[in-house]
Amino acid sequence: VEMTGWSLLPLLLLPLKVDSYMGAMMGVLNQCDDGKTRLEVDWDPDDFTQYTCPTQWSYAVREEVEEIYYAMPNFNAQKDVVGHKCMNETISYNDTIPLRGDHRPNWPVYGEYLYVPPQRWLHNLEHGSIILLYHPCVDEDELSKLRTLLTGCIYRHIITPFNKLTEDRPLALVGWGARLIMSRVNQRSVVKFIRKHAHIAPEDISKNGLYSLHLIQPSQVVSSKKDLQLCPTHPPNPDDPTVPPAPPNSE
Ligand SMILES: *[C@@H]1O[C@H](CO)[C@@H](O)[C@H](O)[C@H]1NC(C)=O
Ligand SMILES: *[C@@H]1O[C@H](CO)[C@@H](O)[C@H](O)[C@H]1NC(C)=O
Repeated sequence: VEMTGWSLLPLLLLPLKVDSYMGAMMGVLNQCDDGKTRLEVDWDPDDFTQYTCPTQWSYAVREEVEEIYYAMPNFNAQKDVVGHKCMNETISYNDTIPLRGDHRPNWPVYGEYLYVPPQRWLHNLEHGSIILLYHPCVDEDELSKLRTLLTGCIYRHIITPFNKLTEDRPLALVGWGARLIMSRVNQRSVVKFIRKHAHIAPEDISKNGLYSLHLIQPSQVVSSKKDLQLCPTHPPNPDDPTVPPAPPNSE
């Protein structure tokens, strides 16, 4: 297992900009966290329950189930301070869906994953991105709606299954200190959430990550890598009923 380190040598030799931070350096590959070894500290690679629905039936989309928006009270996301921890330490979270917290020095390449653990995606979140979580039993069409909205709104996103979501609300969007959990996708709420919470985090950094285990689909740039314009195909104010609906998303 240690020998996989050799394949990282070219990366280690790159003159990477070193950002020092609370604890371990971020965005560099070293023994603290090379993004490839000791990953079982965060997630047992043989545990496929994270991304597999145990039944053949998916959860029904329920019209009557209201979405729930939550933002941490009395919280300044941009002034929040958390730390980086090396792979020799475990990181756990109190919240079922962690909205902030310590994380690994290396964050995932933006995009959709078979599975990426919270210890990784929290770092993207801390850089001002938006995370889409879904239960592996979610209705595929509903997930698809949310995926299309998110990927058309913001380049800096991560999409991953997360089996701690419930049957009632198997879909979630997460920003630093905030979440929107839902059964059915309401376009207005989704656009509003993304515009309200993207960029609003301890850091607002667009540099891509170095971790890419189980990456399925890298993100496509929407407006720019910095996502200066969020949801560009949607009306400026999705709450204003006088604005005509956005043109359908062409993929
Ligand atoms: C983990 O490793 C880092 C660097 O490799 C070291 O600075 C830190 O003290 C170690 N932590 C523990 C709990 O062993
Ligand atoms: C979890 O909760 C305990 C008790 O309230 C608190 O001391 C601890 O700091 C919390 N940990 C995290 C990671 O938020």
